[in-house]
Amino acid sequence: MTAVLHGGEGAVPAADGRTGGLQVRDLRVTYGAGARALTAVDGVDLDVPRGRTLALVGESGCGKSTIAKAIVGLAPVVGGRIMLDGATVTTERERHAARFRQRVQMVFQDPYSSLNPRMTIAEALDEALALHTELTKSGRRSRIAELLDMVAMTGTAADKYPAEFSGGQRQRIAIARALATGPEVVIADEITSALDVSVQAAILNLMREIQQRTGVAVLMITHNLAVARYFSHRTAVMYLGRIVENGDESLYDAPRHPYTRALLDASPSLATDRADRVHLAGDLPDPHHPPAGCRFHTRCPIGPLTHPDRVVCRAATPPLADPAGSAVACHFPLA
Ligand SMILES: Nc1ncnc2c1ncn2[C@@H]1O[C@H](COP(=O)(O)OP(=O)(O)O)[C@@H](O)[C@H]1O
Ligand SMILES: [Mg+2]
Repeated sequence: MTAVLHGGEGAVPAADGRTGGLQVRDLRVTYGAGARALTAVDGVDLDVPRGRTLALVGESGCGKSTIAKAIVGLAPVVGGRIMLDGATVTTERERHAARFRQRVQMVFQDPYSSLNPRMTIAEALDEALALHTELTKSGRRSRIAELLDMVAMTGTAADKYPAEFSGGQRQRIAIARALATGPEVVIADEITSALDVSVQAAILNLMREIQQRTGVAVLMITHNLAVARYFSHRTAVMYLGRIVENGDESLYDAPRHPYTRALLDASPSLATDRADRVHLAGDLPDPHHPPAGCRFHTRCPIGPLTHPDRVVCRAATPPLADPAGSAVACHFPLA
C-alpha cells in the first residue's frame, strides 16, 4: 500500500502499549428531545489502537451503529471526545470535514446500497481518490489496480457495474473503496451479516490480511460472538447504551459480566454444554426509560431478581474501571 499512515505525536498509549488509532471517551448520543429523547449511547469509552481490531458486540438496538455514526459525524453527539492519534476531533463539523473522512472510513452491512449502481467499479474508486488524494489521473489508475489486487479482485472488475458481482464480491469492492484514501481507522458495521456463511470467513480473513499490511485500526461491529472472538484482538460488550465488559480472549473463556455470560451461552457456535447455562429473564427494557442503577438488573440472573439483598444493583451504576484494559461494570462480577 502506497499511502502513508500518519505519525502519532502526542499519541496516548493504549492497553497493550500500542499508540494512536481511535479513542472514544465518555461518548453520549441522544436522539430527539423532551419526553421522546433517547440516549442511545450513554458514556462510552473505546480504544482501537493502530494494527488492532476491537469487536463491539451486543444485541440489536443496544447502540452499536449509533457509536459508528457518531464517530463519523452522522449521529447527534451531546457529549464526550473522539480522538485520532491522540488529537481530539471535537465538533461535528470537524468530523464531516474531508480530511477526517479520509482518515476514518466506514463499511456497511449492505454492499448493495453503499455502491452507486450507475458507476463502474473504476469510477467509484476514482471518485474517492480524486476527492481525497492529490494523485494524478494515471496515478489514480495504478492505485485502482493496486486496490483491486489488495481485495483479491482481478483488473477486469474495474469496468463492470456493481450489479455484475455477487454479494461477497461487492463487499470486497466496498472494502477497496474504504481503503482508497489510506485511512487510519476502518469501522466495519456488520459487514458479513448479509452474506452467505460460506463467504463470511473469506471477507473476515481479507480484513485481517489488509490490517497486517497497512496497520489500519478496525472497529468491528457484530452481533456474532464467534466472529468477534476469532477476528478481533479485544472485545467490548454493550448493553442498552453502555459498555458492560471489555477484555481480550479471556473474556470468552471466563466472562465476568453475567450479560456477557448469557450472550455466550446463547451463541450457537460458542455455547458450552455446561449444566449451569445462564438464560436471560424478560425482554430488553424500553430504551427511552432505562432501568436505574445497573441497567441490566431487570434481567440479571444473579441480581436482585434472585438475590433480594443485592439492592445496590437497583441503586448505583457500576463503573467500568479501566476502559482501555480489561474491566467489568458489575457490582457482583463472576469469578
Ligand atoms: N435516527 C434515529 N432516531 C431515533 N432513534 C434511533 C435512531 N437510530 C437508532 N435509534 C435508536 O437507538 C437505539 C440504538 O440503535 P442502533 O445504534 O441502531 O443499535 P444497534 O446497531 O446496536 O442495533 C435503538 O433503540 C434505536 O431504535
Ligand atoms: Mg446496527
